[in-house]
Order: sequence, then structure tokens, then C-alpha cells
Amino acid sequence: MIIGGSSSQKLAANIAREMDDILCPLETRKFPDGERYIRINGDVDEGVVVVQSTGYPQDENLMELFLILKTIRRMGVKKIRTVIPYFGYGRQEKSFNHGEAISAEVVSHLIQQSGASEVYSINLHEESICNLFNIPAYNLSAMPAIANFIGDNVDNPLILAPDNGAMSFANEISKILNCESDYLEKIRLSPDNVQTKTKNLDVNGRDVVIIDDIISTGGTIVNACNILKELGANRIMVSCVHPVLVEDALLKIYTAGADDVVGTDTLKSEISAVSVANLVADALKKSS
Ligand code: R5P
Repeated sequence: MIIGGSSSQKLAANIAREMDDILCPLETRKFPDGERYIRINGDVDEGVVVVQSTGYPQDENLMELFLILKTIRRMGVKKIRTVIPYFGYGRQEKSFNHGEAISAEVVSHLIQQSGASEVYSINLHEESICNLFNIPAYNLSAMPAIANFIGDNVDNPLILAPDNGAMSFANEISKILNCESDYLEKIRLSPDNVQTKTKNLDVNGRDVVIIDDIISTGGTIVNACNILKELGANRIMVSCVHPVLVEDALLKIYTAGADDVVGTDTLKSEISAVSVANLVADALKKSS
């Protein structure tokens, strides 16, 4: 039995289809003052899968997740496998400056205390977030699914990481597609200001696919596109796992010269063309 929270209804339905499982009806709404209301409209099995991404609006989606988990525990569910395709607050997994909250730790503890038995997420910003849980926590990779999409749409591309942190993604994809990979060097000056060093890349006339875990403001990708355009790249495809896409991020990326932008359905967006339903269903089937 699968329960899809309001941020992941379509993905939950697709996971249910892949697993030949049923969706449990869930009613969610907001009271006039903004407080969240949920009701499980049916009987629950002893084992349930809950799917809820905790992207924007993060606090509301998290609260809804806590309410679902606590409620089904109270209704007698013994094992709750909790799928959080996009893990909000995942970029603050440590205290970078004195006095800062370790938000990912707080969120992990609340998810666990609310009743999760296991957690499944996809390309966590830091794999170490799994260690913040005292229950089994799994970090799945969407790179094979993204690589399939790239392979179907671009011939022999250069896979480019827009910063060092994304190099492992570029390597994973280039291994699957048997093509080259490289990376750029980036310095983050503030949450919405990044500087990327130009670099000698042999991309003149070549098709390039940029891969990152998250596209948020789009600043990282815009810088990479500018460099690729200057160096004479032919077609630029931009890919990511989590299309957070704050405000006009997508427009900025196209304006910088990207020909295509693609992401997965860990978050709902107009570029969510690659589904992680199969990946999640396989992981759940293996662990049951
Ligand atoms: C950073 O380490 C991440 O991998 C992404 O590069 C970053 O979150 C993208 O943010 P933005 O789109 O705001 O540049």
C-alpha cells in the first residue's frame, strides 16, 4: 500500500503502478489560517510506503509528512518505508559557521520520531545525511535513468560537471555511456552568487551535457553555459536530478544558451521528463 503526499502524488502513483500496488486515498488541505490537515481515507495495511518530497514549500511538506507518519502509526501500521525523493534542508548538513542550525539533522530526527522505519532518498546533497538516521537510510542514484535519457537524445557528448562536487555524477554517466567527462571549478560567494573559473575545454563544435544534482537559482548552470558558449560548444543540454528552479531560473538558463534542460520527477516541474519511479520501485522490491 502506497500513500502519496501532496508534493509527490503522480510519482507515488507511478511507483504504485511499477509495484502493482494500491494507492491509499489521502485527503490533505489547509485550514483558513494556514495550518495543515490530513486524513487517511481508508484502511491501512501493516506495511505502508509513504512518498513525499520535501521541497518548496519545505515546511508545509515536512509538516504534512510528519502528520501522515504519526497518523498511520496510530492506525496500526508497523512498518513505514518513507520515500523522500527530494530531501529538503539537505544542503545544511553541518554547521558551516558558529551558531548555525544543522537543519538536515533536525529534519532527520523529526522524520524518525514521527514513525519512519526506513528512509529512501535520491541523490542526497550529501550522502552522509544517511548517517543522521538511526534507522536504515538509503541514497539511490538517478544517474542511470538520466544517462538513458541522454543516450537516447545526444550522440557521444562530453559530460560536464559544473563544479567539483558534481564530478562523481559526470563520471557515473560517462561510464554508462562510454563517453568523456570533465568539470569546471566553482566558488560560491553567497546563496545566489557563484563564480566559475574558465578552463580550456576542447568543446568547439561538440555537444555537451551538463549534469548537477540540484538546479536552484540557476546561477551555477548559467556560468557553465556562458563558458561553453565562449568556447564554441555546439548543442548544450542541461540535466539535473532535482529541478528546484527558483523563480526565473529556467529562463536564465535558456537565455544563457542551453538548448534543452531536463530533470527528474523527484520534484514536479516543467522539465521533469525522467522518472525515478522505476528506481524507487526496484529498491523497495529488493528490500521487502
Ligand atoms: C551545489 O553544491 C549543488 O550541487 C548545486 O550546484 C547548487 O545547489 C545549484 O544551485 P544554483 O542553481 O543556485 O546555482
